Amino acid sequence: MTNINNLGNILNKENKENETPDFSNVTYHIMEQVDQVVSLEKFRDSVFVNREEERRYILDHLSFVPHEILFIYGPKSSGKTTMMDFIYENEMDDIYETRKINLRGLLLSNYESFINIFFKDVLIKIKSDEVEEKRAYKIPFFQLDIKIKKKLEQKELDPFEIMEYELMKIKQSGKKPVIIIDEIQKLSDIYFEKERKLINEFFNFFIRITKELHLAHVIILSSDSYFLHSLWDEANLSATSEAYKINHLGYAEVVTWLHSKKFNDSEIEYIWNNIGGASHQITRIIHAKESGRSIEKKVNFIIDSFLGDIRKTYYQKIIDHDKASFLSVLKEMSENGSAQYCGQISIEILEIMMHQDLWFYDLNMNFIEPNSPVIIFSIKKFLEELSLLSKDPLI
Ligand SMILES: Nc1ncnc2c1ncn2[C@@H]1O[C@H](COP(=O)(O)OP(=O)(O)O)[C@@H](O)[C@H]1O
Ligand SMILES: [Mg+2]
Repeated sequence: MTNINNLGNILNKENKENETPDFSNVTYHIMEQVDQVVSLEKFRDSVFVNREEERRYILDHLSFVPHEILFIYGPKSSGKTTMMDFIYENEMDDIYETRKINLRGLLLSNYESFINIFFKDVLIKIKSDEVEEKRAYKIPFFQLDIKIKKKLEQKELDPFEIMEYELMKIKQSGKKPVIIIDEIQKLSDIYFEKERKLINEFFNFFIRITKELHLAHVIILSSDSYFLHSLWDEANLSATSEAYKINHLGYAEVVTWLHSKKFNDSEIEYIWNNIGGASHQITRIIHAKESGRSIEKKVNFIIDSFLGDIRKTYYQKIIDHDKASFLSVLKEMSENGSAQYCGQISIEILEIMMHQDLWFYDLNMNFIEPNSPVIIFSIKKFLEELSLLSKDPLI
């Protein structure tokens, strides 16, 4: 790890050998990992580090007959939505007919709003200005005749039967139907009828169209790992679903990206050791460098902002009774990078920490970890403040 005391010297050194071309469509071979080729592409006016392995995994999944639901999970801001949008807009060829919806920001409070969001009675095709391709059209989730829509609104028809029928029509036309829903947790508090929770009906439907009918692929995304954790256990989804993790970017990807932005090797090592592959934070550091500001200060600013969140949570939200177990989990994380989740931590703490994006719960591994690598340093600083950890000279 780079010692912060040397950093000023390193950052002041000019690095003329490392002149690199603009990021678009550049491919680098990483010396330490020559077998990994990382390419950078332009997507929505920003750089997209290509995520070769993850994209291949999802396209492979789509190439098979549907037999289970695919959950895409991972820490907040690891790039799940961006990657799925990239695949949808650039890589799903015309054999697929996709119904894709992102529920973020939509007002979904009751049955009526669910029907209005998922079913449209008019032909709306909104074309993005920049991209000419057909896939850039946003097609409303399901388009229906106005009379059918009325019957749905009046609960004379079952929305899940309608969706199944629409998917059948797509299949009969020779295409492969795919459903993609992002931010699925927004369906969680809606009731279909008194006792019927909409989210449960959705999952019964998803199981039917994948495992039983092999009719359509279903890809579900959520940034809310607390929600996924509860849903996974309650609905026993491991029998009918696969959970695929999209983690933060890897070392080779970060090196390639930062090289293209003219960072030198020492700066890159420093960023990797402190920030890891969290793309959102890397973007902030790139902006700092491009504005002539100190990388070190920006990294410390990020560490301190999470430190503030942890302090606030500890003093204001965690009840006294839970404080000892909370601190023991922080200690375990600071030592191992993650903490085993064996039920010793209260569900309230899990909920608070996950909803603040400080912790992330890994469905497959059954452990909790900081939502992004930099939070480890904030945790260490917090434990130092409470004199529970001796000061680490490296941060
Ligand atoms: N592969 C990538 N390369 C570069 N930046 C990325 C990449 N994936 C995501 N980002 C950036 O990171 C931020 C968070 O990504 P997002 O897809 O919203 O994460 P998530 O859906 O996992 O919460 C966005 O600003 C996005 O532009
Ligand atoms: Mg997202």
